[in-house]
Amino acid sequence: MLKRPILAANWKMHHGPTASKTFMETFLAGYQPREDRTVVVFPPAVSLTAVTWMAASRPDILIGVQNIHWAEKGAFTGETSAEMAKDSGASMILVGHSERRHVFGETDAQCAKKCVAAARVGLPFMLCVGEKIDQREAGATSDVVTRQLREGLAQVANLISADFLLAYEPVWAIGTGLTATPGDASAIHTLLRAELTAMIGTRADDIPILYGGSVNVGNAATLVAAPEIDGLLVGGASLDAGSWIKIVEA
Ligand code: 13P
Repeated sequence: MLKRPILAANWKMHHGPTASKTFMETFLAGYQPREDRTVVVFPPAVSLTAVTWMAASRPDILIGVQNIHWAEKGAFTGETSAEMAKDSGASMILVGHSERRHVFGETDAQCAKKCVAAARVGLPFMLCVGEKIDQREAGATSDVVTRQLREGLAQVANLISADFLLAYEPVWAIGTGLTATPGDASAIHTLLRAELTAMIGTRADDIPILYGGSVNVGNAATLVAAPEIDGLLVGGASLDAGSWIKIVEA
């Protein structure tokens, strides 16, 4: 089981191989292995190999891929399969990030196929769920996140073990400087765990649920200390190695 808290950096489309190496040099020098937490870095796919090489002597740091295609191979220009990501060093897969959903039009059905692909290669995967501001204002948050959870896991629920992770990222909090309060985030995490329990019984107890959305050096410790927040998924504030060290040490 992954040690908690789980601190995950999602670099999005930042840090090609050269910048990734520079980041990892600073990060590895400044962050020593710790028994009481798990650190994950999701670089862009083109930087997976570079980051994996840099972290070769640091099995405490997991490297993940931000997105996969569901097919093993084929005529899918520009895509990366789960098999290819694993071959490049990924040991975790992000599925259904809100930017995939809302910028690239990814559907719940496509997320479900990606979860199947992640399970096929035997890698832990982190399904992201989260409501948009209009959905929140319409009181639809719980409907949206439970639908994303249920439909995303539709074909793999029977396989789910502690290797599965969930991330709650309210879309209105991503990159906006607005953060869900620890209480609000806890409440949604509690709801998500109840839904998971309804789906897979007591296996839900072990599933980490991470919060993401404008996490920074100043709010990381408070958020991660809140009930039911098992870790953080961090975008902008993870791009600078110095600030990322402060967050993982939080
Ligand atoms: P920010 O931390 O930049 O708000 O991004 C959150 C996110 O989308 C992480 O996956």
